[in-house]
Amino acid sequence: MRLSQRVEKLSPYLFVEISKKIAQKRAKGEEVISFAIGDPDIPTPEHIINRLCQAAREPANHRYPETAGLPELRQAIAQWYQRRFGVTLDAEKEVLPLIGSKEGIGHIAWCLIDPGDIALVPDPAYPVYSRATTLAGGQPYSMPLTQKNNFLPDLEAIPEDIIKKAKLLWLNYPNNPTGAVADLDFFNRVVRFAKEYDLAVCHDGPYSEVAFDGYQPVSFLEADGAREVGVEFHSLSKSYNMTGWRIGMVVGNAEMVDALKRFKSNLDSGIPQAIQYAAIEALSGPQECIEKHNAIYQRRRDLLVEALNDMGLETVPPKAGLYVWAKVPNGYTSLEFANDLLEKVGVVVTPGTGYGKYGEGYIRLSLTIPDAGLVKGLSRLAAWQGVKR
Ligand SMILES: Cc1ncc(COP(=O)(O)O)c(C=O)c1O
Repeated sequence: MRLSQRVEKLSPYLFVEISKKIAQKRAKGEEVISFAIGDPDIPTPEHIINRLCQAAREPANHRYPETAGLPELRQAIAQWYQRRFGVTLDAEKEVLPLIGSKEGIGHIAWCLIDPGDIALVPDPAYPVYSRATTLAGGQPYSMPLTQKNNFLPDLEAIPEDIIKKAKLLWLNYPNNPTGAVADLDFFNRVVRFAKEYDLAVCHDGPYSEVAFDGYQPVSFLEADGAREVGVEFHSLSKSYNMTGWRIGMVVGNAEMVDALKRFKSNLDSGIPQAIQYAAIEALSGPQECIEKHNAIYQRRRDLLVEALNDMGLETVPPKAGLYVWAKVPNGYTSLEFANDLLEKVGVVVTPGTGYGKYGEGYIRLSLTIPDAGLVKGLSRLAAWQGVKR
């Protein structure tokens, strides 16, 4: 069989490799504590599950859904954006539910990128922005996210010839993996930059509801003129512990939303309707769960940051998101240090280079580890001091 060049050249997805490594260790009877994947361990709130079960029993929901999603879901998304960010959306034209935001992120590249086109992609970053660009035949251009710039891209540093050829700018705040946040000033600058160079902006904001110490992340769509140049991807995965249900959304620029809808209508057959009803319940029902979950993550964040600083790893507590981004000790690469933690104390972390070359020198630890595992993980991290090389 001859596979396509596209697939032949595709390296394995980061977390597939990490999951394999963990499974191998566990198969040998070794207990491994994983801080690797950002997959909420806290169950989906009960009222959302109840709505899902009820909707699953209704025969109307056993049939093909529409690509555009239920009108009631589009309305619920628009109302949520209004309540949460003061952003008014046209539920017909500016909202599209997705089979998880990853699906939309992957597919929008096909709507904007032709072979040879450039997409500006942060580095380090969630790997799908550059992977989707490459799959669509485009070239990702890395914008370094460095501590010096508060992990925001330096738009002025992008060479003029690259910007002129670029069609798409990817951004993600609260940021995975660095934990950085962006304010409205930054998003206003992005809109002006996108207008100047005729760029489409895709802002990915699935962590906007996971925030600490009273901090409230902003939406890209709050920026002046944002919907003229771009869209925002969002998700119910992290806000409501619904990673397994696969539901997210894209909102904003009507032309981009319509392009993605047309593309998807040729590839998938929508989101199971029972899940859409559960999503309506999540967005429109009681929201206390968000504060409750954030209190749990914040406590874990504080314990983890303290443990990492005690190990001598420079770590700044993140204001939002599910990750702690820590500098590895001198003398190690990210991968060497991640391997050292796995081999010496059975702790899995993600090497920063898994998110791009500018992730070198860092590891990422997720806060989605149940408390019992966290306690064990912290004592193992402390034990690393005794066994380090
Ligand atoms: C930055 C970022 N965007 C998108 C996603 C995908 O989320 P979803 O579950 O909605 O596909 C993730 C998942 O970890 C993520 O970290």
